[in-house]
Amino acid sequence: MSDDTTDSNGEVELEARLAEQEEFEPPESFVEQANVSDESIYEEFEEDWPDCWERAADLLDWDEEYDTVLDDSDAPFYEWFSDGTLNASYNCIDRHVEAGRKNQAAIRWEGELEETRTYTYQDLYREVNEFAVALRDLGVEEDDVVTLYMPMVPELPIAMLACARIGAPHSVVFAGFSADALATRMNSADSEFLITCDGYYRRGDALNHKQKADEGLRDVDHEVQTVIVDRLGDELTHFLGDDAYDYDDLVDAQQGERVDPVERDAEDMLFLMYTSGTTGEPKGVKHTTGGYLSYVAWTSHAVLDVKPEDTYWCAADIGWITGHSYIVYGPLALGTTTTMYEGTPDYPDKDRLWEIVEKYAVDTLYTAPTAIRAFMKWGEKYPERHDLSSLRLLGTVGEPINPRAWKWYYKHIGSENCPVVDTWWQTETGGMMITTLPGVNTMKPGSAGPPLPGVDARVVDAEGDEVEAGEAGYLTVNRPWPGMLRTLYRNDDRFVQEYWTEYSDEDSDEWVYFPEDGAKIDDDDYITVLGRVDDVLNVSGHRLGTMEIESAIVGVPGVAEAAVVGGDHEVKGEAVYAYVITEDGYEESEELRQKIVEGVEDAIGPIARPEEVIFTPELPKTRSGKIMRRLLEDIANENDLGDTSTLRNPGVVDDIQAKVQSD
Ligand code: PRX
Repeated sequence: MSDDTTDSNGEVELEARLAEQEEFEPPESFVEQANVSDESIYEEFEEDWPDCWERAADLLDWDEEYDTVLDDSDAPFYEWFSDGTLNASYNCIDRHVEAGRKNQAAIRWEGELEETRTYTYQDLYREVNEFAVALRDLGVEEDDVVTLYMPMVPELPIAMLACARIGAPHSVVFAGFSADALATRMNSADSEFLITCDGYYRRGDALNHKQKADEGLRDVDHEVQTVIVDRLGDELTHFLGDDAYDYDDLVDAQQGERVDPVERDAEDMLFLMYTSGTTGEPKGVKHTTGGYLSYVAWTSHAVLDVKPEDTYWCAADIGWITGHSYIVYGPLALGTTTTMYEGTPDYPDKDRLWEIVEKYAVDTLYTAPTAIRAFMKWGEKYPERHDLSSLRLLGTVGEPINPRAWKWYYKHIGSENCPVVDTWWQTETGGMMITTLPGVNTMKPGSAGPPLPGVDARVVDAEGDEVEAGEAGYLTVNRPWPGMLRTLYRNDDRFVQEYWTEYSDEDSDEWVYFPEDGAKIDDDDYITVLGRVDDVLNVSGHRLGTMEIESAIVGVPGVAEAAVVGGDHEVKGEAVYAYVITEDGYEESEELRQKIVEGVEDAIGPIARPEEVIFTPELPKTRSGKIMRRLLEDIANENDLGDTSTLRNPGVVDDIQAKVQSD
């Protein structure tokens, strides 16, 4: 990010004081009150592994206590707490009500137009029960997958918890995904129930979401019953078709009704979440009731330092794993107040987040580096308009954070008074894996930190041997953990293939999980995660497969071939660069460029929209015919290309380079 994009005075001062500083100690005031403040926890977990994970399970109420902590008899199909039973909705709601905390706020919701709604634990209990009864009435049975295609409205976590209550796994599809993406996921899971919404606000405009849901339903190959939440009222009238029900009507009809939480086995599926991989087909990551819930409760406690009396805010979208784990399940399992915001951070102005922090006296803010880079660009005058002194802890997730952004966040949002936790994890890991413990460790901006207690993460070379300190290699996780995915839905082979073949030694039953990230390790075991080493992009912290985008582009009439890579982007981190070859009879044109952009939006959603479409007569290929993506990435980033003479078609490089530079 160039210097002229930030407020000059504050920047000079920040540079002078903080630029050189590479290590930061957690403030005394934080350590004194931290949930975890004794470094002996690392040793304790090590000595007592895997039983150390009972500490996580102990944060929950179990119907039937478990005896077995870890069952590794069928690795890598590990099982955690497998002979125990529990219910996630009971753990997130009922037990807090029973403990006399029914009047505490569970969810504080703020709409983009500044409307607010507060659900106490009692309110949540009532509505989750009523909706759970309604779902049962519609025919939802235990283990039926219910798809939730909803924006950031309170009915989304309510629907998740209602599903959990009756033992129906949910599959939440991010509202920004397209109709096609919805249909693919519903077909893949054979999901016969859809809960969706008429629309929502984005930068003040009412968006018609139901139209997208309806389009998606046309491509679902089985019957579906749909429930529609009326978010927009008179702003957008909608009609209920066959097999469609109004959410409020259903809930009103069940007033006062209750459902006993279904006793679920620890290993029963809590939810399914589709994520992008190397191939075009999204992967259905399966998370379980006991291990996942224990793990997100534990990490919320140890890393996010969540306390019941806090107002906690994770400014992510529930449509992604971060929102599942750290807006809904982790915070509610611990009985805190979780905040939800519907809209964008720059509406009506660029201080919206800071206004919300001040208004609700938020204690902890957890957000993404892409957002922090935008805040930096907008300048510190926006946070300075507000009293942010309620903040005690800051967190980031989703992509590497560079030291400048880290320090900006630390100073301008945290007033050098809040630890910053840079948390590395994935959809598949369920919860955080590598981060400092805010009440224990020194922080080193840019480096996520050591693996959490009980987590065995390493950085290895191509052979699987650990690299020397300071060297780059591949991240691996060498022991199972309770929050881990159990499989890819209905695809055990792909599960083993994708995550457990690269570094495992099947013959000696040594299983090593490969997250497909590159990393570096310091001599004190701090890990700096460098980014994906597969064909997956990280655009504004959102994970997108290049193959998915490429297949959307080649679906556009006139396109013969396409290669998608990530180009550096000031705010998004990575932006989609699409190199496109036209079919005979078609030529580069603004119209075709537009069609390509629309094709991607239709297949995936606006988040995958190409930043640049570069028409080229050829793509650089190796002699064996493989597209040289690295080279295309270097061209996008205007890096030195090195020796290109071994290509099958070296001449094409100069042409493409000239094109990118002139565009
Ligand atoms: O490349 C890593 C990056 O995000 C990927 C996981 O994406 P997803 O499954 O969508 O989950 C995102 C939210 C947990 C990882 O493989 N990533 C996530 N957190 C960090 C990160 N890269 C560097 N530092 C992080 N803190």
